[in-house]
Amino acid sequence: MTDTQQWWRHAVGYQIYPQSFFDSNHDGVGDLPGVQAKINYLKDLGVDFVWLASFYPSGHVDSGYDVTDYCGVDPQFGTLADFEELVAALHAAGIKVVIDLALNHTSAQHPWFRAARQSRTNPYHDYYIWQPSDGQTPPNNWQSVFGDSAWQPNPATHEAYLHSFATAQPDLNWENPRVQQEMVQIIQWWADRHVDGFRLDGVTHLKKRADFADVTDPRTGYYQNLAGVAPYLAALRPVLTANHLLTIGEAGGVDMTTAKQWLDPTTGFFDLLLEFDHVHFWEMAEPKLPVAALRANLTKWQVALEGHGWSALFIENHDLPRAVSYYGDAVDYPRRSAQALGMWYMLMKGTPFIYQGQELGLTNADFTRIDQYRDLDSCNYYHRQLATGAPVANTLKQLAAKSRDNARTPIPWTGKAYGGFSTTTPWIDMGPDVAQRNVERESHDPLSVLTFYQQLIRVKQSVPALQTGRYELIDTYDDQLYVYRRTYNGDNWLVMVNMSSQIATTQEFDLTASELILTNLLVDSDSDAQQIQPWEARLYHLRQLE
Ligand code: GLC
Repeated sequence: MTDTQQWWRHAVGYQIYPQSFFDSNHDGVGDLPGVQAKINYLKDLGVDFVWLASFYPSGHVDSGYDVTDYCGVDPQFGTLADFEELVAALHAAGIKVVIDLALNHTSAQHPWFRAARQSRTNPYHDYYIWQPSDGQTPPNNWQSVFGDSAWQPNPATHEAYLHSFATAQPDLNWENPRVQQEMVQIIQWWADRHVDGFRLDGVTHLKKRADFADVTDPRTGYYQNLAGVAPYLAALRPVLTANHLLTIGEAGGVDMTTAKQWLDPTTGFFDLLLEFDHVHFWEMAEPKLPVAALRANLTKWQVALEGHGWSALFIENHDLPRAVSYYGDAVDYPRRSAQALGMWYMLMKGTPFIYQGQELGLTNADFTRIDQYRDLDSCNYYHRQLATGAPVANTLKQLAAKSRDNARTPIPWTGKAYGGFSTTTPWIDMGPDVAQRNVERESHDPLSVLTFYQQLIRVKQSVPALQTGRYELIDTYDDQLYVYRRTYNGDNWLVMVNMSSQIATTQEFDLTASELILTNLLVDSDSDAQQIQPWEARLYHLRQLE
């Protein structure tokens, strides 16, 4: 593959969650013309491609990931003509377009499933996964990701269908070559509409245990990362390659051996994999980020993929809370920790993804009532917890820390009502501090998180060593600093980040002959080579290697 075909190796991506980006038609929901209205913002930010989260017509159960039509646009987001116009406008601005494709399940309202559930002889019946059922006892102990049994009775056929996510999201049967063919045609249909790539949703879930036996881990044991996914992915590969599409696999739970195989440039299936190993570390990060463990984990992946594949770098998406609240320090160092986290992950080896609002340093939503939540997973969790006797206050506290809605609040474009996102009440409440943290204000502030992200993007795009250079950890054997070197053709760069809210000291680095290229410390603060301030981040161009 030529270097131009591998454009994504030199690119910075930006994830758009259309519901919450910009509302152009004043109905409180973001839409595709709203994305088009903000192309100049994306250009100023400097991103090379956008990934549009699911905008397909849907049953609106799982925020667009319960698709009712794979070849359309949900009316709340606009029309297909709007989509085509948006793609043309983004392309004219030099920005490529990646779209989402939920492969694992459809909506229960999808015409395939409506037909499939009518009778066992319906031609669509075998598009889904069934087991005989008396309507009372689930066929086995498999549980859905969103809680409770993964089986839902279907009285018409005396069966139950499998749904590894919500009840309204029946799993597709990938054993059926017709399902594979449908997806191939859908990919071609969008390629004909000039998309540049796909984020393929939930690829590690496509293969289910064939024996339908009880499993030791009912939450993941029956579907996560089982051997046998490869033939399904292989069926999609020809249409993806023939159309030169960027392929990003969402690969929860993928192990390193499989990741290496799937990312192999000649025999693999994906250009980039979104793997979540580092995210799971953070889930255990109470009360404080385990920096040493994180260092070891990310380094393991960076080293393993060197020469074998390319990493996707991310700290946020529409399924995670806001990084500054969860991994940074949103109380004492909201600006600095947002910037430090940005430098820390974006300058590693791989293609960085920025999730909308991350570049503003947006924090968690600070919701205090259950009626503020929209996410099905969060609402289910709340009711399940209460049913087991958990106290309301405690459950709300857990949601405030971990709910997916934390990252789904609308983008504050201005400090005005509804952050200038809409002229009417948005579909979900705005996050906190709209007056302080918004695009208008941050774009005029040379020290803002937004300005720092612009600088980071520029430096990543312009320094070959920060793209293709080898990654090497410099272990500081502490629980504060994350230091790594990037090296390419004798050109050496050093990233040094204090990932804690305490001063860190280090005697180990002689940086006298090196040039400090980017830092998030205020110009007039005391910078000291040996003393690293809380959440201070530095990028050095190393003149000499010791
Ligand atoms: C993907 C999406 C997530 C959705 C899930 C099930 O992981 O990112 O938002 O809930 O698929 O549809």
